[in-house]
Amino acid sequence: MTLEEKIGQMTLYTSGWDVTGPTLNENYKEDLKAGKVGALFNAHTVKYNSDLQRMAVEETRLGIPLLFGYDVIHGHRTIFPLPLAEASSWNLDLIKETARLSAKEAAASGLNWTFNPMVDIARDPRWGRIAEGSGEDTYLGSLIAKAKVEGYQGDDLSDPFTVLACVKHFAAYGASQAGRDYHTVDMSDRVLRETYLPPYKAAIDAGAATVMTSFNELHGVPASGSRYLMTEILREEWRFKGFVVTDYTSINEMVPHGVVANEKEAADLALNAGVDMDMQGGVYNDHLATLVNEGKVSEKQVDEAVRRILEMKWRLGLFKDPYRYLDEKRELQVLFSKELMDHALVSARESIVLLKNEPYNNKKLLPIANDVKSIALIGPLGDNQIDMLGTWHASGDANKVVTVLQGLKEAFPKAKITYTKGADFMGSDKSGFEEATKNARAADLVIMAVGENHQQSGEAASRSGLDLPGVQQELVEAIYQTGKPIVALVMAGRPLTIGWMDENIPAIVNTWHLGTMAGKAIAEVLAGKYNPSGKLTITFPRNVGQIPIYYSMKNTGRPFDADSKYTSKYLDVSNEPLYPFGYGLSYTTFEYGEPKLSKIEIKEHENLTIEVMVKNTGEYEGQEVVQLYVRDLVGSVTRPVKELKGFEKISLKPGESKVVTFTINSDNLKFYTRDMSYRVEPGEFLITIGPNSAEGKTAQFTLK
Ligand code: IFM
Repeated sequence: MTLEEKIGQMTLYTSGWDVTGPTLNENYKEDLKAGKVGALFNAHTVKYNSDLQRMAVEETRLGIPLLFGYDVIHGHRTIFPLPLAEASSWNLDLIKETARLSAKEAAASGLNWTFNPMVDIARDPRWGRIAEGSGEDTYLGSLIAKAKVEGYQGDDLSDPFTVLACVKHFAAYGASQAGRDYHTVDMSDRVLRETYLPPYKAAIDAGAATVMTSFNELHGVPASGSRYLMTEILREEWRFKGFVVTDYTSINEMVPHGVVANEKEAADLALNAGVDMDMQGGVYNDHLATLVNEGKVSEKQVDEAVRRILEMKWRLGLFKDPYRYLDEKRELQVLFSKELMDHALVSARESIVLLKNEPYNNKKLLPIANDVKSIALIGPLGDNQIDMLGTWHASGDANKVVTVLQGLKEAFPKAKITYTKGADFMGSDKSGFEEATKNARAADLVIMAVGENHQQSGEAASRSGLDLPGVQQELVEAIYQTGKPIVALVMAGRPLTIGWMDENIPAIVNTWHLGTMAGKAIAEVLAGKYNPSGKLTITFPRNVGQIPIYYSMKNTGRPFDADSKYTSKYLDVSNEPLYPFGYGLSYTTFEYGEPKLSKIEIKEHENLTIEVMVKNTGEYEGQEVVQLYVRDLVGSVTRPVKELKGFEKISLKPGESKVVTFTINSDNLKFYTRDMSYRVEPGEFLITIGPNSAEGKTAQFTLK
């Protein structure tokens, strides 16, 4: 290979079909034929990609096949719930299956690389990309990261139903200041290593083939130029063997970041940091050869990067058959197949979180009686297809989406159902209120479908307020004035501040953006055909001023005390969230027994088992996520008030009980101590087992 051909392999361009960043190289086909491109993204379908692959194989001197990447974040054409939604299932098998099926559909469509999983821990719901991750918790986030990599890549990358995974965005992108996208990240190494890095590490340990750099700076250095992240942590500490790709033009963006004066210096910084592939910036193509000739980077470094990229092509089997992902017959069979659509429904059901279900006139509104006579469905998300798909919905087909209205008609065939949009997602137009209130008055039950559209969360979709956008809050209040019973469906890519609804609306269901089968899943939950079991993996704040708010906070030296002025609190809002991490209701009720410990004292490496009896005390069969939290009461550095260390999702019939057993040992109790060594410290530990992070029964043990 010539130096130019090697640099070509290190270059990724977007095709003109779908552009997911600020620039497009109009000449990507000419560059491809000139051997200056090793991979393309945003190109899919067998037909389209076959033409491009043919150019690479037949029209370049070396005939090296292309990688085809795409943001298959929660499905390719059949769309599953948003990742933040699906995390609410706390069902790792289900999440892995979603990844497996997404890979299968994407691979059938000519792709061999997904830019997922996105494993950024995020604790600021103003950040729109919170929708793409698994929420605020490091332990759960790490398990989900592993499940997704295993789902996408399977056991064998040469299986043409699998794709390369790309763990992103390395690192700590979820901590963008003030929730503003692309913004600065600044944190201690302790927080970085303890809270933010473990999910990336879990993905790499699970075999993730590729890593994407993040847009943010960390410790004053943009990630794409950070040798600390890309070489010291990733390759030297974690022994990562795959290749590192940048995010979209993020090498170029080191110029406006202000760490280099021009793109040539940016290329130098990126390569020396350990970045193998340049996404879309063209900086390696423009400058690497000169940098090699000037001795600023060595050809050996270039060879290393190229070897890693070619190895992935080889592991995919592309050198044996460059067209192995390009089979039109297979594409027809797989896209939207029953297997995919069925799973989209299963996943959507399990992602729904019941936030409130209080009696209205002495009777709970949910599940809705199947002899309900009339329903007024109101709100911009009631008969809406595109917004059910949520952000980053790849090439999801809105026409295939089951809307809430369609779902309700199927679930309640005898009821008279009216639909009024009532309001939009933006602007101040209230002209739809009159018809909406008229329809509400005429119905026995009102269902309000309110929240965000698919563009109000995701990349470059930060919000400084988290109320219902547009005039939807006023719409809900106008309908409330009719005195009719209301069930609110809150559909969004992030937690919304819905305190007013929590005070006034008897039943609230958080449905997120659930994908292709959204309406059917929602209607099944409302009708009681599926008993909701989702639990939040992100704290819902009462107002934006509480952010950041997450369950694993520190105690402070002056923890809240209502009787004392000088304690850590706000004057105008409580310290408690609206809904805590791990929270979600069911149509049934569960009772927890006292946790029973196998010992009250353990030594290092000795196992402690904790048993708890959980009983279904209600009238419906239901699933419960039993959660185990640990608090290290005294450490050489302060420890969080609670940390999730285990969970189990169980299913119980009415009256049935089950003993859930957790095992922990000193490995689960390690942290970065005062001297930054990762180890356990002896002492007292408080265990809480319960239905969410704010409730539960406790027990204590000592580690000797
Ligand atoms: O994968 C994405 C990334 O998450 C954000 N910038 C664009 C990339 C490619 O579309």
